[in-house]
Amino acid sequence: MTSNTSLDAILSELRSNAELPFEESRNAPPGMYSSPEFLALEQEHIFAKEWICAGRADALSKPGDYLTMEIADQPIFVVHDRNGDIRAWSNVCLHRMSLLLEGRGNKPVITCPYHAWSYGLDGQLRNAPYMDDSAAFDKKDYCLPSIRCELFDGWIYVTLNPDIEPAAERFAPVRDIVTGRYQFENYQETFREEHVWDTNWKVLAENFMESYHLFQLHGPTIGKQSKVEEMDMPPGGATFNYHWITKDSKFALATAHPDCTYLEGEWRRTTALITLYPGHMITLTPGYFWYLVLQPQGPDQVKILYGGGMAPDFINDPQGAEHVAKAKEILDAVNEEDRIGTAMVHKGMKANLARSGHLSYLERPNHEFGQYLARQITGSAACPTPDVEALSAAR
Ligand code: FES
Ligand SMILES: [Fe+2]
Repeated sequence: MTSNTSLDAILSELRSNAELPFEESRNAPPGMYSSPEFLALEQEHIFAKEWICAGRADALSKPGDYLTMEIADQPIFVVHDRNGDIRAWSNVCLHRMSLLLEGRGNKPVITCPYHAWSYGLDGQLRNAPYMDDSAAFDKKDYCLPSIRCELFDGWIYVTLNPDIEPAAERFAPVRDIVTGRYQFENYQETFREEHVWDTNWKVLAENFMESYHLFQLHGPTIGKQSKVEEMDMPPGGATFNYHWITKDSKFALATAHPDCTYLEGEWRRTTALITLYPGHMITLTPGYFWYLVLQPQGPDQVKILYGGGMAPDFINDPQGAEHVAKAKEILDAVNEEDRIGTAMVHKGMKANLARSGHLSYLERPNHEFGQYLARQITGSAACPTPDVEALSAAR
């Protein structure tokens, strides 16, 4: 299978692989990671249809705080408005369609950089210089198109899809099974960055959702503290997958703070790795968390929102600043290993002799992700069923 493989062949292989039992499945076909036609289908059937994460809500804590992003090539901005709500709007001026905002920051009013039409935080046009003589123009007719925006579990989610169920419903099992246990809504974000990596977005997503690579690729950093034989990979659901790993209790920042009373037993040193489809990945430990939000930039690059923070016990500790700095140092080193590893995979996949091998039992989430892609793009019905009782019994 090569990168020149036809779209029909890619779709057929994606679907047949997704419909195999996990034990017989292979990695998805290599052409899926480099085909512009496949990416166009992903934009249409995945990114334009799903809830897409915009980061932690506490990143927009004051009126006027905003961030910008794109969903399926639609530029949007998310802003904390004057009523205290977080709202999202099209980031395209209603005059001659310039982008309005870039990056993130704080603005009381949004002024277009081209001819200075200015908008309130409610999207309404407030002022338009030198337009008084345009007889047909009435500024009351101009309000930026609103984008659906909801908060769930401390996250901001946005979508272009008017019909999708609320984010809190779609991702409820993630909170019930995983994040509620950690009281994740109280964790505080301490950093948030954006990067562009030279790989396909799915290579990075799949890298995140298996911990099989920890002992090798992350050997120099966290490999030795992560025990492959103590990993659990329960079935995920239609909108997410997850797995657990137990960290060596000598790695203090990944284990519960002595003041933490809500985690008991093995949970005090258990890390959860969660993927909310399509590309919101969270590593949640009793001490710190970090996350990625993946946004494709063509088939060969991915824009990454990379953020993280800590549980309140660690932040409020007298050594809080030290803990935050130490966690960031480790995460940056691990992420650099993943950057190099995923670029090597993407390069390898483009080779004429590239072939997809069988998955390890440690890569069940990867198979479920393939099933998700197949459902969204080919209409396959293959889907896991989350097994909450088996999980509770396992610990
Ligand atoms: S394009 Fe925005 S004011 Fe002209
Ligand atoms: Fe990794």
